[in-house]
Amino acid sequence: MNLELHPTFDRLLKRIDFEQKLSQQAKAIWLTGLSGSGKTTIAQGLQKKLWDAGFFAQVLDGDNIRTGISNNLDFSEKDRQENIRRIAELTKLFVHTGIITINCFISPTRAIRSQAKEIIGREDFLEIYIKASLDQCEKRDVKGLYKKARKGEIKNFTGIDSMYEAPNNPFLTIDTDQLNVENSINKLFNSILPQINL
Ligand code: ADX
Repeated sequence: MNLELHPTFDRLLKRIDFEQKLSQQAKAIWLTGLSGSGKTTIAQGLQKKLWDAGFFAQVLDGDNIRTGISNNLDFSEKDRQENIRRIAELTKLFVHTGIITINCFISPTRAIRSQAKEIIGREDFLEIYIKASLDQCEKRDVKGLYKKARKGEIKNFTGIDSMYEAPNNPFLTIDTDQLNVENSINKLFNSILPQINL
C-alpha cells in the first residue's frame, strides 16, 4: 500500500485504542511501604480481584524486578533511585499500552516517589501508602531479613539503618496493623475502581 496516497492512515495504535479494547483506564497503582508491610500480598489479591471483575493488571515487585532488570543494583540510595527510575520507565510503557500496573516497591523517599510520578505522569500515578509499624513488620519478618539486619549482616536495611519517609498526601492509606488482608484488598479495590473504569 502506498501510504502517501492515504495521508490519514495512522499506523500507530494509540493508548485509547488499547484502553477501549481492554475496557479499562490504565493507571499505575503505586504501593509504598516498609519491607513486610504487605505490599505484594495485597497486590496479588488485588490483581486477582481485578481479573475476576474483567480488568487486566500486571504486578511489578522485587521478585520480578530485582532478579531481572535491576539485578545489578544494591540498596544504596543511588541504586534505589536507579531501581525506581527503571521501574517507572517500564510502568509508563505498560500504562501507555492500556495495562494497569500494581507496583510494590519500598520506594523509601519522597524524592524517589516524586521522580516516579513525573516519569509515569501525574494523572496516571496513584500513590498508596501501605502503612505498618516497624515493630509489626519486624515481628512478621517473613523473609528473616530484619533479623539479619539487626545482626548487622545486611546493611542499609529500610527502617533499621536506612530511612523510610511516609507519603505526605497519598491517594489512599491502608493500615495493615489494623486491617486484615481481605479487608485491605477490598478497600484498595473499591477506591481505585472509579479511576480505572472506562
Ligand atoms: S527499593 O528501596 O529500591 O524500592 P525494593 O522494593 O526494590 O526496594 O526491594 C525491597 C526488597 O528487597 C525487600 O522487601 C527485601 O525483601 C529486599 N531487601 C534486601 N536488602 C534490603 C535492604 N537493605 N533494604 C530493604 N530491603 C531489602
